Amino acid sequence: MSTVLALAPMQGILDGLMRGLYAEVGGMDYCVTEFIRVSYHPLSEGTLLRDCPELERGCLAGAGVPVHVQLLGGLPEPMAKTAELVARLGAQVIDLNFGCPVKRVNRNDGGAALLRAPERIEAIVAAVRDAVPDQVPVSAKIRLGWDSPAEVERLCAAVQAGGASWITVHGRTRVQAYSGQADWPAIARARLSTRLPVVANGDIVTPDDLARCAAVTGCDRFMVGRAALRRPEIFRVLRGQEGWWPWWRRLGLVRELLRRCTVHRPLHDTFGLGKAKGWCALMAADDPHINEVFQRLKRVQRLSEAEALLDTAIAVGRTPGPPSEDPSAARPHQARVSLPPRVAAQSSFPLPWERGQG
Ligand SMILES: Cc1cc2nc3c(=O)[nH]c(=O)nc-3n(C[C@H](O)[C@H](O)[C@H](O)COP(=O)(O)O)c2cc1C
Repeated sequence: MSTVLALAPMQGILDGLMRGLYAEVGGMDYCVTEFIRVSYHPLSEGTLLRDCPELERGCLAGAGVPVHVQLLGGLPEPMAKTAELVARLGAQVIDLNFGCPVKRVNRNDGGAALLRAPERIEAIVAAVRDAVPDQVPVSAKIRLGWDSPAEVERLCAAVQAGGASWITVHGRTRVQAYSGQADWPAIARARLSTRLPVVANGDIVTPDDLARCAAVTGCDRFMVGRAALRRPEIFRVLRGQEGWWPWWRRLGLVRELLRRCTVHRPLHDTFGLGKAKGWCALMAADDPHINEVFQRLKRVQRLSEAEALLDTAIAVGRTPGPPSEDPSAARPHQARVSLPPRVAAQSSFPLPWERGQG
């Protein structure tokens, strides 16, 4: 089977607008909604359509990338009733979150809190499995354990006994949260312990990481999260379709996000500004040029100013410097930082919003 790549769910960041942009960049086989929290009562149709607007479009994002709907909760009955409704609304896959480490979520019996009680994971998976049609797979996303990676086999057994179709394993415990390195050998143990396919997740950042993760875990399905926030083209790069993008092309995505936010919420400047600043901050961690732009963007209060700032930065980045000169001389705002070797734009396709640009 060929390699499967998934865009990880990321609450507070990867909403429907963002998933649409990622899907248009492409390279991934599917993406997953942010977790949709179910507490004591089943969720309404309105909530589900708000959190997964793709349900109204065949549960596909952008250029046709499947979106899996992720539910989070500790009670089998409301989870099952919500799953039944979301399947009726058109969900093609339902994923169950047993990995979220956020304290507030765990105190309310959700996410990684369930890792302490594998029998409860089994009951939730089984209730959801029973509630949705056979053709709708139910998957589970887990961590290695609450405080020990030795728990992972037992957790996989619970997910399998509940009737799930596959398991995504983030190679850290709840106690680790996001610290240290993902434990890929523990994901290998998970894979060997279950007959279900395992999706390996954690710290895949480069094509070399992907190859090493495949070698260590024996998996052929992978999920990528934080690295995709910094480098949205990562799935295309992991597939060998193109090289890393130049910084201004990533900023082009932020600019497009801003445009879509204003269409989505026309009278709400702060919505788009907040999202654009947040994404730019994440990209800035990886790139000195974007960091320079972000240092100015973060002070901007008006949407029009942000648009102008990004347009100018992108135009400067796109303009090739005279061949005989130091490229940074033509870009005074870049001159203060030491630049990594310039990566040529190797992209073979214009993105929809890039067409017609000079
Ligand atoms: C800001 C943020 C939000 C996240 N939200 C979710 C979520 O809603 N559901 C989920 O299953 N995992 C969530 N995760 C975990 C990621 O999906 C992924 O498992 C984790 O980041 C490890 O993968 P990575 O090293 O590729 O980032 C979140 C992670 C981050 C950093």
